[in-house]
Amino acid sequence: MDVTRRQFGLMIGASAAALGVGLPGSAGAQAPVLIKFSHVVAPQTPKGKGAEKFKELAEKYTGGKVKVEVYPNSQLYKDKEEVEALQLGAVQMLAPSLAKFGPLGVKEFEAFDLPFIFEDRGALRKVTDGPIGKDLLKKLEPKGFLGLAYWDNGFKIMSANRPLKTPEDFLGLKMRIQSSKVLEAQMRTLGALPQVMAFSEVYQALQTGVVDGTENPPSNMFTQKMHEVQKHATLSNHGYLGYAVIVNKKFWDGLAPDIRAALEKAMAEATVFANDIAQKENDDAIAEMQKAGKTVFHTLTDAEKKAWKAKLVAVHKDASSRVGKDLIEAIYKATGAK
Ligand code: LMR
Repeated sequence: MDVTRRQFGLMIGASAAALGVGLPGSAGAQAPVLIKFSHVVAPQTPKGKGAEKFKELAEKYTGGKVKVEVYPNSQLYKDKEEVEALQLGAVQMLAPSLAKFGPLGVKEFEAFDLPFIFEDRGALRKVTDGPIGKDLLKKLEPKGFLGLAYWDNGFKIMSANRPLKTPEDFLGLKMRIQSSKVLEAQMRTLGALPQVMAFSEVYQALQTGVVDGTENPPSNMFTQKMHEVQKHATLSNHGYLGYAVIVNKKFWDGLAPDIRAALEKAMAEATVFANDIAQKENDDAIAEMQKAGKTVFHTLTDAEKKAWKAKLVAVHKDASSRVGKDLIEAIYKATGAK
C-alpha cells in the first residue's frame, strides 16, 4: 500500500515535471512558479518554522511570482523517498538532516554526526559558515542538488525506558538511528543495537517496542510525542543534528535571474530566522516534556560525561576512513578542538 502510494506520488510528480508544470517559463506567463518544500518533521520545530518563514518571504519578495507549498510531517514523502523525489523533480526543495546524505554517496556529511565533535553551536558555525561548509555543499552538485543553506536544529538527547547514565546502560538496547554509518558506529560502541528507520515510523516503533530508544534534539522528541513512550531521557548533548536546505539544481538554474535573486534573499533571511529560534525551540521542548511528566530527565555528572566521551572517542578514529581523516582534522582545526 505504502509502496504503491509512494510510486504513484513519484510518477505524478515526475510526469508533472516532465510536462513543465511548476517550472519557470511554462504554463503561461502569469502562472506562478511552484516550489514544493517537503520535510519530515512537525510544523512547530526549527525546520518547520524555517520552511514557513521561507514561504512567506519568497512569496513576498517575488511579488507572488513564486508560490511555495510546505508539506511537513512526511505528508508527501518519507526520508529516503524525498531525496528520490527531489532528484526526479517531483518536489523542488528539501532540508534533510546532515546524517541522511550518506546513502546518496556523500558520506562526508556524516562528520557532523561524530559524537562530541562540536563543543557548542559556536564551534559548529565555524564549520558551516566557513570553507568546510561551502566545500561540503559543493559535493551535492554531481547528485543534481544545490545546497543553499545550513539550518540548525540542535544537540541530541538519548532516550529509552531505562536511565542512560553510563555507557554500560546502553548494553543490548535497540536504538533507532538515522541512516548514518557514524551513528551506527556510535550506537555499537555503546553496546547498543542500531536500527535505521524513517523518522515517521519512530513513534510507533517506540510504542510497540520494535526499538527501545532513540536520540533526538528535544524539539523532535516533543513534537512527535516520543516523550509519551519513553520513560527516561538523558540531556547528554552528545551529538549534533542540523540540516542542509537543498534544491533540484536544474530547477534552480532554470529560474529567471531576478526570481532566483529574490529567492536567495528569502533563503538568507529564513536561515537567520531558523538558526535564531533553534535553541529556544529546543529549550521550550524540554520544558514542555518536563511539564508533561511522562519522562524522567537526567543530566550527566562531569564523571559520567567523561566516561561517555572516553568511550565514544573511538568513533572518530573508526570514521576517518569513511568520512575522511583530512576532513575530520580540518573540523578539529576550525573549531579549535585540537
Ligand atoms: C531524524 O530522522 O531523526 C531527523 O533527521 C528528523 C529531522 O528531519 O529532524
